[in-house]
Amino acid sequence: MAEYQYILVERDERVGIVTLNRPTKLNALNTQLVAELSTALEDLDRDEAIRCIVITGAGERAFAAGADIEEMADKSPIDMLLGGFEAWERIRRIKKPLIAAVNGYALGGGCELALHCDIIVASENARFGQPEILLGIIPGAGGTQRLARTLGKYRTMEMVLLGNQISARELAELGLVNRVVPQGEHLKEALKIAKELAERPPIAIRLAKEAVLAAFETSLEEGLEAERKNFFLLFASEDKREGMRAFLEKRRAQFQGR
Ligand code: CAA
Repeated sequence: MAEYQYILVERDERVGIVTLNRPTKLNALNTQLVAELSTALEDLDRDEAIRCIVITGAGERAFAAGADIEEMADKSPIDMLLGGFEAWERIRRIKKPLIAAVNGYALGGGCELALHCDIIVASENARFGQPEILLGIIPGAGGTQRLARTLGKYRTMEMVLLGNQISARELAELGLVNRVVPQGEHLKEALKIAKELAERPPIAIRLAKEAVLAAFETSLEEGLEAERKNFFLLFASEDKREGMRAFLEKRRAQFQGR
């Protein structure tokens, strides 16, 4: 496996765990970290032994406090254009389910990284926010779009224009955080969900994720069409045969990912 400087990659049974590992800088996302993260996620995405991926942050204080401000401070637009920002696109294209296990700060790019995930689990001390406005910029890794599609216009405007932090509990009430757990339990809970997902038929999981994401990217008409095609496609899988046969035979299905 590749050697990384700013992340740790582990495997727990069929779950990949990627830990952002710059705790003294609150796991601030410098260019190299985001490149390493996208490479690691792609490797795990290709690995047939892995069914689900958890992303978390090292240390007690942060998931990630955003893009690295020190690194960005003197950059020009052209530096940004050429500077590897498209690594975010690679994260967007990961096909396996991603779970964010958030502790402490998830700000700016940290909040946006959580928004790239499919399920968000947070410790009760987690704080989310898009404070870019306080730096004279705006979110650049999808924050305005994904928040608006999840929270609607008015809450998103408040988060993006004021730049204030919001608690995990408040975001859970608004439907952005799936589960809030006692402080320090975030990874345990994320792994519990990940292992449950790992039991599910992986091709159906992949096509289900793709269909749900289509709701954020297409019209209703196109989204329904995408869902229907994926639904029909799954009738070609061994796992569909096994799942339905197991139901009729009143036994537990053994999914093979075929
Ligand atoms: N970039 C670089 N370094 C960061 C950082 C960041 N985003 N966030 C924290 N750090 C560093 C601090 O500079 C500090 O380093 P030193 O000890 O070497 O000085 C260390 O992490 C600890 O941070 P603080 O001393 O600031 O800790 P605190 O408890 O006083 O404050 C905080 C915590 C409120 C999270 C504060 O660190 C903070 O506001 N961080 C910046 C948050 C932010 O603005 N994020 C958005 C970045 S822009 C972006 O993300 C663009 C995009 O859309 C992709």
